[in-house]
Amino acid sequence: MSRPINLDSKYLALLIMNYFLKCTRGRYALEYFLTEQQKEIKALTRTIAEEKVLPVRAELDEKEEFPWEIMKILADTDLFGVYIPGEYGGLGGGVLDLCLVVEELSRVCSGVAVSYAASALGTFTLLEYGTEEQKRKYLPDIALGKRLSAFALTEATAGSDASAIKTTATRTGGGYILNGTKQFITNGGEAELYTVIALTAKEKGPRGASAFLVEKGTPGFSFGRKEKKLGIRASATRELVFEDCLVSEENMIGRDGMGFIMTMRLLDRSRPGLGAQALGLAQGALEAAVDYARKRIQFGHPIIAQQAVQLMLADMAIEVEAARALVYAIARTIDSGAKNFTQESAMAKVFASDTAMKVTTDAMQIFGGVGYMRDYPIEKMFRDAKITQIYEGTNQVLRTAIAFELRKKKGMQD
Ligand code: CAA
Repeated sequence: MSRPINLDSKYLALLIMNYFLKCTRGRYALEYFLTEQQKEIKALTRTIAEEKVLPVRAELDEKEEFPWEIMKILADTDLFGVYIPGEYGGLGGGVLDLCLVVEELSRVCSGVAVSYAASALGTFTLLEYGTEEQKRKYLPDIALGKRLSAFALTEATAGSDASAIKTTATRTGGGYILNGTKQFITNGGEAELYTVIALTAKEKGPRGASAFLVEKGTPGFSFGRKEKKLGIRASATRELVFEDCLVSEENMIGRDGMGFIMTMRLLDRSRPGLGAQALGLAQGALEAAVDYARKRIQFGHPIIAQQAVQLMLADMAIEVEAARALVYAIARTIDSGAKNFTQESAMAKVFASDTAMKVTTDAMQIFGGVGYMRDYPIEKMFRDAKITQIYEGTNQVLRTAIAFELRKKKGMQD
């Protein structure tokens, strides 16, 4: 006859501690059927994050310093090429591979993770719509991490209303002259290559925008101030200024007038990566909270023995795993060649970023007073989480986009 479980509070606390330990160390991890290469990518990134990023993350944050040393390590280990086809020097994976790297970096430092991810954001349009010549010219260096790239859409008057951009690209003999200012550009100033969205036919609205590859150092292209941010401080966010900047017509990506549509498609493709950034951040905060709750003694016991704390941790663990399942599922769907994934991609970004905000808030609550201090990592994670609800489409705009897709769908009875 089996013995009933001893529900003595000390024993129960041990059981729960053990469960959380196993969960957070991966022994009870769900099976996500990653390929051998994906498992290696994830494990390699985790090692780099723990051995190279962890020791410097507080300093990078404090000094608001771009993580060039880490970018070099990611380049040397081929991680910049995970989503780029082998023929252009990459590892031939896809969005899921990219998400795995971003998740693992973000588990330790979101500022580092977004510096890495923004290069992919700046490369996707070239990858999907570039000519063979453009791809051969730029992709190998990006895959090897010799050049970072960046994506430039946002302007002072065009945040959520992306088609309200004012930067113009005026046709001239053999090229286009760019004029205007881009705002809040991640990797601005650090990247060598920029995908810039500008109006070639203002009167046509969203159908009048086009995409251009602009190299750092092109005459007429300069950088404005570097922003002072609440979080993700290791990353660089700058203005890009175009003053009569001549760009050759070979540098237009895709067809004239397709810039806005290509951008929307790009964001559909990139938002799971943003979800992965939020997911990694939430995972890191959960692990920190579990470790702290096991060690912190109050009323004679570790606080993890308190049911109030257990319930918070359980909810955090559920939300993190649900975010992971959603992010991986949509990334895999994109990689399988799906054509329209606007709604699902937005869902992954919204759910994971709301999770990151909630989990970091609850983690700070579990840490109590010390969590509010800079000596502990939770304060940084909490600051880093907020932006995930804002950039690559605010969660409100994305909920509107999800609702729009729902309205288009027929009901089950139809
Ligand atoms: N895929 C393909 N086509 C799309 C599309 C999609 N997902 N979404 C819209 N389109 C097409 C429409 O079909 C329409 O085409 P037609 O001209 O043929 O009709 C055209 O684009 C215009 O569409 P809408 O009228 O719906 O466009 P809108 O002006 O109302 O904007 C929006 C829609 C969803 C709100 C869009 O502006 C948007 O996504 N805003 C958020 C902007 C954003 O995410 N910015 C992030 C910047 S990058 C960043 O933050 C990165 C970083 O720093 C790390």
